[in-house]
Amino acid sequence: MPKIPEKVHELTVGQVSARSGAAVSALHFYEAKGLIRSRRTSGNQRRFTRDTLRRVAFIRAAQRVGIPLATIREALAELPEERTPDREDWARLSAAWRSELDARIKQLGRLRDHLTDCIGCGCLSLENCVLSNPDDVFGERLTGSRLLPEQERGGEG
Ligand code: FES
Repeated sequence: MPKIPEKVHELTVGQVSARSGAAVSALHFYEAKGLIRSRRTSGNQRRFTRDTLRRVAFIRAAQRVGIPLATIREALAELPEERTPDREDWARLSAAWRSELDARIKQLGRLRDHLTDCIGCGCLSLENCVLSNPDDVFGERLTGSRLLPEQERGGEG
């Protein structure tokens, strides 16, 4: 495993890539999008501060649950640039994100729990659609399905 000794405070793009699991091209992309920053050596080599590893871990985890890059960038912009973010800084970010993450957890739960039920989408393809959505009555009240968050369904549902 690409263990990086504690005494190493500045990392090459290769070290960040090896330790974070993010491709070098992805790190270049994150930097181009303003999500991470590096300094350049006299030989124009990138050098990243060690806390970049935490930012990259955060970016990848957030992307994995479908959070848009712009939202991730806004959140990271709350962190201080002039010093390594500490626990309080991350706690502030986490608090700001709590409602976003709670909404996603709720949506993921809906997806996990309702795929075997009638979701009121109008397909009438499951046995229990006849009971839950006879003659597609949901179509009179909502657009889309009950898998979507209420505010995205149109009408009441
Ligand atoms: S699952 Fe589509 S209408 Fe029931």
